[in-house]
Amino acid sequence: MQPMRKWAEKYTLINDRRSVRTDITEEDKKIEGTLRPKRMEGYIGQKKIRDSLAISIKAARQRGDSLDHILFYGPPGLGKTTLSGIIANEMGVSLKVTSGPAIEKPGEMAAILNGLKEGDILFVDEIHRLNKQVEEVLYPAMEDFAIDILIGKGAAAKSIRLNLPRFTLVGATTRAGLLSAPLRDRFGEIHRMEFYSIEDLRQIIMNSAKVLRVPIEEAGAEEMARRSRGTPRLANRILKRVRDYAQVMGDGVITREIADTALNLMEVDRMGLDRADRNYLNMLIDNFGGGPAGLDTLAEWQRKQLTGIWAGSSRAGWIWINGSEAGTRQAGQTWTPEETVRYRPAGRRA
Ligand SMILES: Nc1ncnc2c1ncn2[C@@H]1O[C@H](COP(=O)(O)OP(=O)(O)OP(=O)(O)O)[C@@H](O)[C@H]1O
Ligand SMILES: [Mg+2]
Repeated sequence: MQPMRKWAEKYTLINDRRSVRTDITEEDKKIEGTLRPKRMEGYIGQKKIRDSLAISIKAARQRGDSLDHILFYGPPGLGKTTLSGIIANEMGVSLKVTSGPAIEKPGEMAAILNGLKEGDILFVDEIHRLNKQVEEVLYPAMEDFAIDILIGKGAAAKSIRLNLPRFTLVGATTRAGLLSAPLRDRFGEIHRMEFYSIEDLRQIIMNSAKVLRVPIEEAGAEEMARRSRGTPRLANRILKRVRDYAQVMGDGVITREIADTALNLMEVDRMGLDRADRNYLNMLIDNFGGGPAGLDTLAEWQRKQLTGIWAGSSRAGWIWINGSEAGTRQAGQTWTPEETVRYRPAGRRA
């Protein structure tokens, strides 16, 4: 059991070394709450979206009306959730937050809608993951501010219409292509989030450093900005890690030098690429003549790398990781270390 645990830990470590991932991690959750700007003026970058929202918000407020339904799409960590909160604050209304996978039954959606007040914003994160029946409740709700409720069963069943307050649905998704056409068509505004410039990220890092009371030099902020892959969430995570490094190894001030050394230790290079990225690039250059190569081909290559690494680093008895004894594995299924644990043949000791 011991080496297995060791191995799992090692894997976590290796996995965690992808410090450049942009989806939310436990580490981010601790700081994101405090770092989220609450008003439009604190929201850096995304100028096109900000300008357009400023007009809609102003117009809606002048008319004393609710905002049109809004959809944000784009890669993780670019500020969709943050912006939704800001819209609610700017409109002076309450924000109700839910997400696609959290709502399982049409009745649950109906109950949420029914609980809204005039002008309220309902934020649905990962909206592409709503199931079809739940999504269908949204159609009349978004279009006519009403829901149809079926009462009774069989032949005696009848549908009654329940009016809703005029609310605003704000949807966010990282996978716009997975949204059904009828749902997409019901949004009045659709905004694509862009990656941030180095200058914007530098500003975000400076603002976050102020909130976290981290002494920082402009050049240090710029170094981190350059290596944040255009993503504020990553910029903030890097700031937090470099702060820790500066405290332990320096006098607490984040200079360019400190930022550079810490990021090198994290194996994030001058362009924000980590080892896995460089792996892919090298693979493309060395094995595929500079590319292009299909995703399947790349995945297969990676799979071999992975099994190779684990089998290679293992002691006797671990060699089954390499495949042939793993009868439970589906043909073509990619091997991940988690699966290795799950499929460890009974009775085998590592
Ligand atoms: N424009 C911005 N200005 C300042 N900080 C920002 C901005 N956008 C994002 N951030 C910071 O980045 C963090 C991540 O943003 P947010 O959670 O809104 O991303 P998201 O697009 O909703 O990501 P996901 O797709 O994972 O839900 C926030 O906590 C916030 O601190
Ligand atoms: Mg979000």
